[in-house]
Amino acid sequence: MRTLLLRKIAGLILITCCSLAAPGQPAAREVGGAPAVRAAARSTAIAQKPAITVPPNRFAKDAEWWKRAVFYEIYPRSYADTDNDGVGDLKGITQHLDHLQALGVDAIWITPCFPSPQVDFGYDVSDYRDIDPQYGTLADMDRLIAEAEKRNIKIILDFVMNHSSDQHKWFQESKKSRDNPYRDYYVWRDGQGPGQPPTNWISLFGGSGWTYEARTDQWYHHFFYPQQPDLNWRNPKVEQEMFDVVRYWFKKGVYGFRLDAVDTLFEDPAFRDNPNDPGKNAYGDPNQRHVMDSKLPEVHTQLQGLRRVVDEFHGRVLVGETWTNKAEELADYYGPKNNEVHMPMYFNLTVINRLSPAAFREKIRVIESNPVGGWPVYVLSNHDIRRHIDRYGDGQNNDKIARVMAALYLTLRGTAVLYYGEEIAMENNDPKRKEDVKDVIGQRGWPQEKGRDGERTPMQWNASANAGFNDGATPWLPVHENYKTKNVETQTSDPKSMLNWYRQLITLRRSHPAFYEGAYVPLLEDSDSVLAYARKSKDKTGVVLLNMTASPQKVSFSPTQLGGSSAKPLLRTSDAKDIDLRNVTLEPFGVVIAEAGSAR
Ligand code: NOJ
Repeated sequence: MRTLLLRKIAGLILITCCSLAAPGQPAAREVGGAPAVRAAARSTAIAQKPAITVPPNRFAKDAEWWKRAVFYEIYPRSYADTDNDGVGDLKGITQHLDHLQALGVDAIWITPCFPSPQVDFGYDVSDYRDIDPQYGTLADMDRLIAEAEKRNIKIILDFVMNHSSDQHKWFQESKKSRDNPYRDYYVWRDGQGPGQPPTNWISLFGGSGWTYEARTDQWYHHFFYPQQPDLNWRNPKVEQEMFDVVRYWFKKGVYGFRLDAVDTLFEDPAFRDNPNDPGKNAYGDPNQRHVMDSKLPEVHTQLQGLRRVVDEFHGRVLVGETWTNKAEELADYYGPKNNEVHMPMYFNLTVINRLSPAAFREKIRVIESNPVGGWPVYVLSNHDIRRHIDRYGDGQNNDKIARVMAALYLTLRGTAVLYYGEEIAMENNDPKRKEDVKDVIGQRGWPQEKGRDGERTPMQWNASANAGFNDGATPWLPVHENYKTKNVETQTSDPKSMLNWYRQLITLRRSHPAFYEGAYVPLLEDSDSVLAYARKSKDKTGVVLLNMTASPQKVSFSPTQLGGSSAKPLLRTSDAKDIDLRNVTLEPFGVVIAEAGSAR
């Protein structure tokens, strides 16, 4: 659904792809110092024995390990702050690896932790080969990689390819003169006249997509903030430099990259204007179809080149920030021979804002039937997208609904990318006042657009002050007031907690053939109350029934449909034991996962 309210960058990028998808349609939307002793003393790591133990992942050493994996996104500013400066750090992540292992996480994607002025909280990189002092040192990263590996957890970093920070030495050089050796690392053009940018392109973060530099009397292009100048991927030197960055981190033991904003790598070589659509966005700019500054075919040539670099190394993987609502376009990201991005993230569940089995079924059908057989990668929330407990929650049954959604994407055929905190049902903590907003999107778009702070608040580890995020310094964003119950420590020992629901689901994915290798088969395709499907492996049939309503629902299957009428319950939200597939009653927002054709 389109909205003039530019809710999130995710939404903003979708606007781009929607525009392309439907031409003619309107566009919518330690640091040193802190004593190490203190960090070690204040441990928020798991103290108790978990009520549920997730078995090891038997596929962890496979070249295609990522197909049987659970990924987990960490926003490093918000995970754990060991030096008590209000901002999370790499040592904080290392300190909590046991939590991630106990949860059954195979890989963690850490959003940018490289040196950065933090205008866009790390998505403005000023050095691609180092760690921002706020987050620690290269030695801390080496230790994180080594400690994670001991637990069979792989580290995925964020590759901000489209743009660097304006503080990067390349840009600092580039802006000095028109004949500087770094000039062509960025996209510079003459204006159309005094005060007239080269094209009408608008920035996704508001205002013109061009900024004028008086020193050289030219404009530079930035798809995002002016402090994020676009790199010129038509310059082979940029490609060489950036590909070497990838090799550098792989040699350190990093297992992959999440590719930021890949759609925006190239601009129209003739620099033609984007078509405007009626209306204005939340920043007061014209709605625009980004056909000249986004999704150019050259993106795919570039991704194939990057893939060749990745293939120089064993088992490395590319994860894409890839927004599209068209199956064919999605296939393009996998590449014609599955030779581009291994794991283009499928965001189409995130644009469904109500619990609609029909809508989910359709989106699953699209990815399942993608023409190149690309591996599905499911996302429900991230640092740009409102937490799904808030998107689908009705205010009364939020935790039940969160269980339904967890059951959905952890039992589908595909890799699930979890967002930190969802395993304890963390909720958005949106700013109440403009003066509290940290995200520039929210500062510019207030009050229609409150920005992304709400989904980026500190991880809730325990019931002590600041939820155990740190030792008492004011966190960069406020901790949600629900932390006394919604925290890892409290939920670890409670077998019925959300945390243990996640562990049970991940256990199922790791241990039951229907769930680690079964085909997806939709069931009850006419139901708009229950989302049902089977996962069929050679010998086993798993059945998943998700009641997406606040009323009890009865469903039935013929004995022939699933190889018999009896079923062995594997996991369910109620305590009821027996399942007769001819007559199943699901409680409101109930989940039943069973093995069909085999009685208890
Ligand atoms: C997408 C990232 O997820 C978002 O947080 C960032 O603001 C933009 N790319 C620009 O890098």
